[in-house]
Amino acid sequence: MTSPAYLSGLFSLDDRVAVVTGGSSGIGRGIAEALARAGASVVVVARGKEALEATTAQLTSLGCRAAWVSADLGSRAGVRAAADEIVKEFGEPDILVNCAGINLRPPMSELTEHDWDLTLAVNLQAPHLLSQRFAPGMAERGFGRIIHVSSQQAHRAFAHSGAYGVSKGALESLARSQAEEWSPYGVTCNTLVPGFVLTPLNARLSSDPDTVRALAARTFIGRNGLPEDFAGAAVFLASRSSAYITGQSLFIDGGFSSH
Ligand SMILES: NC(=O)c1ccc[n+]([C@@H]2O[C@H](COP(=O)([O-])OP(=O)(O)OC[C@H]3O[C@@H](n4cnc5c(N)ncnc54)[C@H](OP(=O)(O)O)[C@@H]3O)[C@@H](O)[C@H]2O)c1
Repeated sequence: MTSPAYLSGLFSLDDRVAVVTGGSSGIGRGIAEALARAGASVVVVARGKEALEATTAQLTSLGCRAAWVSADLGSRAGVRAAADEIVKEFGEPDILVNCAGINLRPPMSELTEHDWDLTLAVNLQAPHLLSQRFAPGMAERGFGRIIHVSSQQAHRAFAHSGAYGVSKGALESLARSQAEEWSPYGVTCNTLVPGFVLTPLNARLSSDPDTVRALAARTFIGRNGLPEDFAGAAVFLASRSSAYITGQSLFIDGGFSSH
């Protein structure tokens, strides 16, 4: 077999349908582009229509198949409505990337019930409900990939982790429970763990050059993350080649977590 055919057998996402929540910005946008360029038809999900339109327009201009669904994943009803719209685009998904996330960062003593509920709803409940909705179909078809996006704060307290750290710790536990449930049917469930990535989520921290420099110095590589750093790992975990990898957390952090 020639090398391109061999690589394609391992990593091509041709004929796959992928959903990327939070796919209109930052890390999710990087992942959406990677999956689409690897061959998947991609549905990006977020609230803001302008960014969704811009993302799908860019993907289409690259020759990819892409569509968007505007939905608020902060409530059960919003997630259900999103799922109903998602399947109207390219049918049932083979790949689900749960990347939409919020980090409100109030100090623990000032964390309101609203902050707590909203953080857990977007960062944890939505990934659970979307997985529960789509994984049984993946299992029936014998192939599925669920990829969550967690955080260093699942493993260590850092920059007012508050409810955010709690939600991300639980998200990695969710991946393990899902892996236990669905892996026997060809549906793997894994988590990508970013370091510090320069995205709108971190606008406040990123606006301080000393903080940005200090965080870069905590990596082995010597720089902070970029959305494109997630491309290879996302394609790998979405592809056939990762069939025997499940329930794992893969750190994409330049060594931040090992330093
Ligand atoms: N950046 C980092 O350093 C870093 C580090 C560790 C982990 N992470 C994680 O990586 C993921 C992506 O973060 P990012 O840095 O790329 O952030 P980002 O650029 O702010 O993107 C967040 C995405 O989530 C969507 N979103 C937020 N709330 C939503 C809601 N209620 N319903 C639907 N969509 C919603 C946003 O779109 P709308 O606002 O239009 O809805 C946007 O597409 C998050 O889960 C985050 O926790 C990031």
